[in-house]
Amino acid sequence: MKVDVLLGLQWGDEGKGKVVDVLTPNYDMVTRFQGGPNAGHTLEFEGQKYVLRSIPSGIFQGGKINVIGNGVVLDPALFKQEVEALEASGHNLTERLFISKKAHLILPTHRLLDAAYESAKGSSKIGTTGKGIGPTYTDKISRNGLRVGDILCGFEKKYKAAIERHKEILSHYNMQYDLEAIEKDWFAGVEKLKQFQFIDSEFVVNDYLSNGKSVLAEGAQGTMLDIDFGSYPFVTSSNTICAGACTGLGVAPRNIGEVYGIFKAYCTRVGSGPFPTELNDEFGDRLRNLGHEFGSVTGRPRRCGWVDLVALKYAVMINGVSQLIMMKSDVLDDFDTIKACVAYKVNGEETDEFPFDITEGVEPIYKELPGWKTNMTKMKSESEFPEKFNDYLDFLEDYLEVPIKIVSVGPDRQQTIIRYVNQ
Ligand code: GDP
Ligand code: IMO
Ligand code: MG
Repeated sequence: MKVDVLLGLQWGDEGKGKVVDVLTPNYDMVTRFQGGPNAGHTLEFEGQKYVLRSIPSGIFQGGKINVIGNGVVLDPALFKQEVEALEASGHNLTERLFISKKAHLILPTHRLLDAAYESAKGSSKIGTTGKGIGPTYTDKISRNGLRVGDILCGFEKKYKAAIERHKEILSHYNMQYDLEAIEKDWFAGVEKLKQFQFIDSEFVVNDYLSNGKSVLAEGAQGTMLDIDFGSYPFVTSSNTICAGACTGLGVAPRNIGEVYGIFKAYCTRVGSGPFPTELNDEFGDRLRNLGHEFGSVTGRPRRCGWVDLVALKYAVMINGVSQLIMMKSDVLDDFDTIKACVAYKVNGEETDEFPFDITEGVEPIYKELPGWKTNMTKMKSESEFPEKFNDYLDFLEDYLEVPIKIVSVGPDRQQTIIRYVNQ
């Protein structure tokens, strides 16, 4: 068997959590391969809403194994909060959630460093989630990180050395902090973490594949936030793309199967950085209000705009997307006209290739399509789709040259329509 990968094609928050939950019954294992609690993946079913940060979104479909892979960065304090919230609602996780020994730990001082670096950047700040993601990956790459497996051997010495190093860096910034208070939470988190099995996840995942079991890898963030191919430097610090699943799980490229690319029927972004199709007008406000576009965890308003097919086509190429999943179509149900960016004008020249730098001078060129003006939220099959919606899907498939296999028409698990059932 191969690992199927599901990942975001835009700037995150495409609806990955919802779809992973929907697809989980088809898999034996669900795993996260990168990112950390900067993610907020929302799932809704049976009138309940859950937001997951580090725990894979397969956790609610009973009996499935969920793995936090080596590419993830984990904050024990936030992990504890997340686990306890789920335990309070009756979900016991210790039997079906496993953590890679090689996942890196977000230390209390990583969060402080994140805040210090952001404030030093002033108006050019990234607008990070403040969870210490960048500093933790920096330590990983510079070979100074602490891993989950370290908790089991010689931890205190390694921890102290890291904290001293961080304190020295922090002394160059004008930062007030109460490390003791943060550490108290953090160490309580480490105790919680110890209730879970730390595993050599690369062996477990590969054994699953050899034994004919199926694995779904759940991406966090989105392709436009990828450290190499996103809108650098306004990106996150990991490889969010499909290749990240290979390094973040220890799976060979030839063992990657389907690549599900997920996108919203429009586009959003949180934090700073370029966003060519952003709408700073009543349409942007309308998308934000209808789509409830506020951060799943932070509540930050998301910037909203039209779908950007230049960026999407680039994301399809980088990830080798084999199936597309379109989310939040219902948000456009009432629009008279829908726009899709089909090319950019860069320095007066038209291009449909995603350029090196989109910070300045990129003007989107739009194609206008008529809206379908139909409430789609209760639809159950594609046979009910209005004609103009089918035209929109055809147009997107023609442009992106990949079939749209799933359409989401609302936040609930049930509001999901699988297309091409006979193919
Ligand atoms: P993720 O980070 O990719 O998992 O996405 P988020 O959970 O951060 O953001 C997606 C938001 O859209 C969540 O509030 C979901 O409940 C909601 N959502 C997902 N699919 C749909 C949909 O098809 N229609 C609507 N209206 N909301 C959706
Ligand atoms: P999910 O998985 C949307 C953004 C931040 C910031 C940039 C860097 O829910 O789609 P970081 O804290 O990672 O150093 O921040 O990346 N960002 C996200 N935006 N969805 C996410 O995750 C994000 N995770 C990080 O807003 O612009
Ligand atoms: Mg999210």
